[in-house]
Amino acid sequence: MKTSSFLGGVLAIGLSSLNAIVAQDFASHGIYTEPVTGITFFASEETNGTITGDGEFSTVSWGGFTFGVALPPDALSRDTHEYIGLIIGSTPTGQGGWSGIVHGDDYSAGMPNHLMLLAWPTGNENQIATSFRYSPAYQYPVPYRGSANLTQIYSNVNETHWTLVYRCQNCLLFDDPAQDSFNASTSKGTFLQGWAQAYVPPTDPKNPLSDFEQHNNGMGEFVIQVQSATHVSYSDWATKTATGPIATGTTTATATISSIPVPTGDAYDYIVVGAGAGGIPMADKLSQSGASVLLIEKGFASSGRWGGTLRPENHWLDGTNLTWFDIPGECNRIWNGGTAGVVCTDTDQMAGCTLGGGTAVNAGLWWKPNPMDWDENFPAGWKSSDMAGATERVFSRIPGTDHPSMDGQRYLQSGYDVIADGLANAGWKYVTANDAPSEKNRTFAHAPHMFSGGERGGPMATYLVTANGRSNFHMWLNTSVERIQRDGGHATGLDVVAFNNGGRVGTVKLAPKGRVVLSAGAFGTPKLLFRSGIGPTDQLQVVKGSSDGDKMIAEKDWINLPVGYNLNDHLNTDTVISHQNVSYYDWPAAWLTPIPSDKDLYLSSRSGPLAQAAPNINPIMWEEITGPDGKVRSMQWQARVEGSNRIPNGISMTLSLYLGRGEVSKGRTTIQKGLNMLVSTIPYGDPNDLAACAQAIDNMVAILSKVPGLTWNLPAPGVSGADYLKSVELSYANVGSRRANHWMGTAKLGTDSGLTGGTSVVDTNTKVYGTDNIFVADASIFPGQVTTNPSALIVTASERAAELILALPV
Ligand SMILES: *[C@@H]1O[C@H](CO)[C@@H](O)[C@H](O)[C@H]1NC(C)=O
Ligand SMILES: *[C@@H]1O[C@H](CO)[C@@H](O)[C@H](O)[C@H]1NC(C)=O
Ligand SMILES: *[C@@H]1O[C@H](CO)[C@@H](O)[C@H](O)[C@H]1NC(C)=O
Ligand SMILES: *[C@@H]1O[C@H](CO)[C@@H](O)[C@H](O)[C@H]1NC(C)=O
Ligand SMILES: *[C@@H]1O[C@H](CO)[C@@H](O)[C@H](O)[C@H]1NC(C)=O
Ligand SMILES: *[C@@H]1O[C@H](CO)[C@@H](O)[C@H](O)[C@H]1NC(C)=O
Ligand SMILES: *[C@@H]1O[C@H](CO)[C@@H](O)[C@H](O)[C@H]1NC(C)=O
Ligand SMILES: *[C@@H]1O[C@H](CO)[C@@H](O)[C@H](O)[C@H]1NC(C)=O
Repeated sequence: MKTSSFLGGVLAIGLSSLNAIVAQDFASHGIYTEPVTGITFFASEETNGTITGDGEFSTVSWGGFTFGVALPPDALSRDTHEYIGLIIGSTPTGQGGWSGIVHGDDYSAGMPNHLMLLAWPTGNENQIATSFRYSPAYQYPVPYRGSANLTQIYSNVNETHWTLVYRCQNCLLFDDPAQDSFNASTSKGTFLQGWAQAYVPPTDPKNPLSDFEQHNNGMGEFVIQVQSATHVSYSDWATKTATGPIATGTTTATATISSIPVPTGDAYDYIVVGAGAGGIPMADKLSQSGASVLLIEKGFASSGRWGGTLRPENHWLDGTNLTWFDIPGECNRIWNGGTAGVVCTDTDQMAGCTLGGGTAVNAGLWWKPNPMDWDENFPAGWKSSDMAGATERVFSRIPGTDHPSMDGQRYLQSGYDVIADGLANAGWKYVTANDAPSEKNRTFAHAPHMFSGGERGGPMATYLVTANGRSNFHMWLNTSVERIQRDGGHATGLDVVAFNNGGRVGTVKLAPKGRVVLSAGAFGTPKLLFRSGIGPTDQLQVVKGSSDGDKMIAEKDWINLPVGYNLNDHLNTDTVISHQNVSYYDWPAAWLTPIPSDKDLYLSSRSGPLAQAAPNINPIMWEEITGPDGKVRSMQWQARVEGSNRIPNGISMTLSLYLGRGEVSKGRTTIQKGLNMLVSTIPYGDPNDLAACAQAIDNMVAILSKVPGLTWNLPAPGVSGADYLKSVELSYANVGSRRANHWMGTAKLGTDSGLTGGTSVVDTNTKVYGTDNIFVADASIFPGQVTTNPSALIVTASERAAELILALPV
C-alpha cells in the first residue's frame, strides 16, 4: 500500500469535533472507499515508518496499518452492536504476520477485557484466518466465548499487505461468560478501538486458533467518529458474503502443569503468601524467632541465586550465575520484551509475579523513608519515631548506593550534567539522599539503588539468604494461593494450586496457633481476601458467582471490610527536554548485543554502564508544593535519558513528575468473574492535586529554560503547566502513561475499623479486623502515598509488622 495514494483518497476530517482525544491515537482519519467492494469506511491509518524499541509498544508500524469501520445509518440514535470492518494489515518481511483489533468502549480499548479480533493470511491464496480472543490481563489472549460472529465479505493478499472486509455482529459488546459484560455505545458519538500488529506469523497460520507471539510491529488506539462511519447503504453491504473457503481450526492443546500434592500432616506456625518486598523480610524475621515458616510464591525463580534461568537467547550470559533480574542495566527489561512468565497475569496493571515481586523487576531505587511519610499517613505505633528501629535494621542489611559501579565511577552522566547545573543555579541543593531523608524541598540527588556488588541485591540477596539458612524455613515456588480456609475469624489453612510446573496442590494447614501473613501486593492481597470471603459485599458476590462459588465460605461468615478501596499510586506526568550534550545509550540492545567493552567491564569487575540502572536514571529532584486546598504535596521528579511521547531517543530526556505524599485522589480495585483484578476507578484527578502538579511543572520549566541550549519539548514553549496537564488525558485508556506502578492502599492500616463503618482493613498490628490470625504486610496497608519510590518503605513496614506480630501473645 502506497501511503501517498491512500491519503489521496482520504477526505481529511477535522479532529476538533472529537469528544475524546486519546493520547495513543496517532492515526490519520478520513473516509475511504474500498475499491473492490465499494464499501465506504471511516478509516484510521497508521503510516509506514521505522518502529521504535523492540516494536511491542511502538506507535509506528513497519508497513503501516489501516482499520476502517462502517456502521448502520441509525448508529448515532440507537446503539448498534455490529459493524462492517476493513483491515489492511502488513507483512513487511514477506513472511506473514498477524494484525489485531481491540473492540473498545467509550472509556478504553486497552488489552484487558475487550474483544480482540486477530487476523492473518493463511498462505492459501487470498485466504485470511480470523480469531476472536480476549485477555483478562496483560497476558496471552485466550479464545473468546461470547456471542461475536464474523462473516467475511472480501479478502486479498499480496506480498506485503493483505485486506479483509468483514461483517462483525455482536462485536461492539463484550459477553464472555467468565467476565463482566458491557456494551459499547455508538450513540455517544465516539468510541475507542485498539490495534496491534506483528511481523512474525502465528505458529500455524492455517489454524485460526493457532498460538502466536506478542505484537512486535506497533500498537495504539483510534477514536472512531460514529457520524462519519454511518452509511445509508449499510444493510446492502452487510448481506454480501465472500465466496472463498473460510479457514477453520482447532485449539492447540494447552500444556498441563505438573504439580506436587501438599504433604498431609504438615502444619506451619506461619504461612507468608507472596515473596516480594513485604513477604521476604517477613518470612525471614518470623523464621528467626524459631517458628516454622512457609513462604509461598506463585512465580518462578528470578535471580540466578535462586535457580532463575532467563538469560539472553544468544547465550552471552550462559555459564554465569546471573539472569536478567540480576543485572542493573537490564532492570527495565520488563518494558522491553521481558514479560513472559514474569508479569502478573491476573491484573490489568504491570506487576512482577516472580520471586522477589517488584524488587525483582524494578529499577531498585532505594530510599531511606522521609519521616513525614510515616508521620502524616500512619497512626500511633507507626510514626517515624516508632519506625526508627525497623529503618535501622533494613538499612544495615541493604544500605543502597548512589554509585553502584564497583569501580566507584559514575557512567553516562550526560543527562545528569545538563540538568544539575540548572538546578544548582536556581538554588536547589544537592543532597546525598539517604543521609538526609527529610530534605525533600528543592533538593536533588544521584539516585540510590539497593544494588550491591554490582548486582541487583535487595531482599532476595539478603533476607531470603538468611531465611533459607534455617531448617525451620520452607519455600514453595510456582504455587498460587486460592483462598484462606477459615473457621469464623480464624484461619486454619490455605488452598493452593500449581501455577507453574512443580507447584503444590491441596490444602496446607496452619498449626493450631498458627498465623497467615498476606504479602501478595496491592492487587494480589485484595484478591485473596475477596476469595476468602473478606471484603465489600459486591465483590464477594462476584466471587460467589464465579468458578470459585462452590468453594467459597458461606455467606453468614463473610467479613465485610472496605478491601480494594483507598487505591493509590503516584500520578505520573511525563515531560520531555532536549539538549545537544545528552547522549542516548541503547539499553534494549544491551540485552542481546551489549557494547563489547561494557559487557567485558561488567562481567570482569561488575563495573561500567551495565552496573547502573537503565535508562540512565538521574538526577532525582524534589519539591514540596502547597495546593490551593492548603495541603502540602511532595513532588518527585525522575529524569532519564530516553525520549517519550513521540519525542525520539537521541538527545532527549524524559522528566517524570510523580505526585507523592499529600495526593488526595483515591481509586478502587475490583475483581471480575474470571477472578482477575482491575483498576475500576483510577486514583488520579483531584483538582487540587492537579493544581499542585501544574505549579511543579511551571517551576521546573522556568528553572531549566535558563540552561543554555536546552529545549523544552513537552510542555512546548509557552504552554503552562495547567494547560499541559489538560492535554495529557487522565483516563483508564491512558493509564499506561499516568501510572507509576506504585500501587498501594487497598487494605488500609488504621484505627477506624471497617467493620463499624471506618476505612481500615487492618489494625495497627496489621491484623485484619474481624479475624484473629490473618495479617497483611505489603503495599496494601499504606494509608496514603509516599514521597519516593516505595520499595524500601514496604520492606521497612514489613520489618515493623514482623516485630508487632511476634510481640502478640499466641
Ligand atoms: C498490496 O496491497 C496493498 C493493500 O491493498 C496495496 O496498497 C499495494 O499496492 C499492493 N502491492 C502490490 C505490489 O500490488
Ligand atoms: C516503510 O518504512 C521503512 C522504514 O522507514 C522503509 O524502509 C520502507 O521503504 C517503507 N516502505 C514503503 C512501502 O514505503
Ligand atoms: C453467524 O452469522 C451467520 C450469518 O448471519 C449465521 O448463519 C451463523 O449461524 C452465525 N453464527 C453464530 C455462531 O451465531
Ligand atoms: C447489551 O446488548 C445486548 C444485545 O443487544 C442486550 O441483550 C443486553 O441487554 C445489553 N446489555 C446492557 C448492559 O445494556
Ligand atoms: C554470583 O557469584 C558471585 C561470586 O561468587 C557472588 O558474589 C554473587 O553474589 C553471585 N550472584 C548471584 C545473583 O548469585
Ligand atoms: C555542554 O557541553 C559543553 C562542552 O563540554 C560544555 O561547555 C557546556 O557547558 C555543556 N552544557 C551544559 C548545559 O551542560
Ligand atoms: C517452576 O516453574 C518453572 C517454569 O515451569 C520451572 O522451570 C521451574 O523448574 C519450577 N521450579 C520449581 C521449584 O518447581
Ligand atoms: C519549599 O521551599 C520554598 C523555597 O524555600 C518555600 O517557599 C516553600 O514554602 C517550601 N515549601 C514548603 C511546603 O515548605
